[in-house]
Amino acid sequence: MTDEDLVAAAWRARDFAQAPYSKFRVGAALLTENGEVIRSGNVESSSYGLSICAERVALFSALAAGHQQFTCLAIAAEGPLEPYPCGACLQILSDYTQGLVILLSRTPSKFTVKTLKELLPCPFGNKHLEFPRS
Ligand code: THU
Repeated sequence: MTDEDLVAAAWRARDFAQAPYSKFRVGAALLTENGEVIRSGNVESSSYGLSICAERVALFSALAAGHQQFTCLAIAAEGPLEPYPCGACLQILSDYTQGLVILLSRTPSKFTVKTLKELLPCPFGNKHLEFPRS
């Protein structure tokens, strides 16, 4: 699986995004360490706050299917800027991945390479919870 293939998978996933309210369709393709690709688009609700980003749907789907190790995430969305994951997605990605590479694509022929560490340099994590609490 090349980076280009994973970006193409994210664009295909975007075709299935459910974004009737924002009309901002996002696709995500998450590569597992075994080479499987878990894809999703964002899923929106008429109760707007229930909407879930493509990245989180992909991560939750992957975890629910038993995958635990991830190497790369491609995100595809049209727009004037690269589709950086929102803060909530960065947090949960940092809870469940280490050393994740993130490919950001705003047009099918191009992408930018970042790491989760670059996008979220100082994450909150389980280590913050490791002290006696009452
Ligand atoms: N969205 C994503 O799917 N991923 C992001 O990283 C940012 C935003 C979705 C949420 C909502 O459905 C729409 O894009 C507009 O915010």
